[in-house]
Amino acid sequence: MQRRGVKQGDPSSAARGAPRTERRRTEGAQSQWRLKGALLGLFIVFILVSFSQNVPQGLIQHLVYTYRIRLPFFVDLSRPAEFSLNHTINMYLTSEEGISLGVWHTVPASQWKEAQGKDLAWYQNTLSDGNPVFIYLHGNTGTRAAPHRVGVAKVLSEVGYHVLSPDYRGFGDSTGEPTEAGLTTDALYLYKWVKARSGNSLVAIWGHSLGTGVTTNAAAELIKQGEVLDGVILEGAFNSARIQDKTNPFSWYYWKIPGTGYLFPEPSAATFEFPSAENLKKMRSPILFLHSKDDHLAPIEFTQEMFEVAVRAQNAERVKMVSFDGSLGYLHNGLYRDPNLPDILKKFVRSLKKDD
Ligand SMILES: *[C@@H]1O[C@H](CO)[C@@H](O)[C@H](O)[C@H]1NC(C)=O
Repeated sequence: MQRRGVKQGDPSSAARGAPRTERRRTEGAQSQWRLKGALLGLFIVFILVSFSQNVPQGLIQHLVYTYRIRLPFFVDLSRPAEFSLNHTINMYLTSEEGISLGVWHTVPASQWKEAQGKDLAWYQNTLSDGNPVFIYLHGNTGTRAAPHRVGVAKVLSEVGYHVLSPDYRGFGDSTGEPTEAGLTTDALYLYKWVKARSGNSLVAIWGHSLGTGVTTNAAAELIKQGEVLDGVILEGAFNSARIQDKTNPFSWYYWKIPGTGYLFPEPSAATFEFPSAENLKKMRSPILFLHSKDDHLAPIEFTQEMFEVAVRAQNAERVKMVSFDGSLGYLHNGLYRDPNLPDILKKFVRSLKKDD
């Protein structure tokens, strides 16, 4: 439709004495676009006005997760091959009644040829092939197709690992509404789903940004159930205890949705806890923190504090931190590009020992 509109609105064809019907159609298309522009304008005004009024809690929740922004736009999440993940299958898992999660399973890149045209059963069988399995829990905006998330899946699969990349409830093509408890339930469900199929393979969770909060929640819950994750990677971890401090320019609210500080002078973010520092005290898994020194959303100083909490709870053998120089420009999302990352990951995985 868009393409048609552009073609017919081409001023050169109208100017060169196009036939009457052609011209009338051109004018029709132009006024249609004008109408659409006006409607868009009204919509923007409406949004701005409603933001400046009292905003219901539900909408705030909506915005905090910004999960409705499905970046990148116009993508078909059921076709991971379009994101150059040609050894990946898309599936839907029911984490709870009425909650369907879109999940990608990428097999180790060395199996890419074999994986062509294979079905869900084939992919599920590969989970017990002995290669480590990573569950990747993403951050607060967009979908599993965002370039930096695809980037992480590629690095992990090139190194020889499986990657399961879900969109939490309410994100991407998953159904439901996001809440902290709901996201944690989704992560735990996927972990158990993998464990039921992965035989003796290592199963680790890699959380990024908001996903680090979900990861430590899930790890702490598993501890309660007497289960220990084989390994945990926390990339761009944030410390909610520090971020909720309102005097901090990186207050939870501000870094979630830059600019909204003007519109919401009284952020009610208290419904989101993500008590990562408390969780880290309970965790008994080897942990690797990955962090860029120029991370503008989750300042490395606070992550350093969490790292120290985790070291005190376990020891410096089991808890490591690798930071990336600010001059590399990785910011909050980009460290998957680091040429040393594959070796860092291999070293971490070698340090994970199965108890059996
Ligand atoms: C499929 O993916 C693998 C692993 O990333 C890559 O090496 C290969 O070149 C890709 N093949 C095609 C046909 O795109």
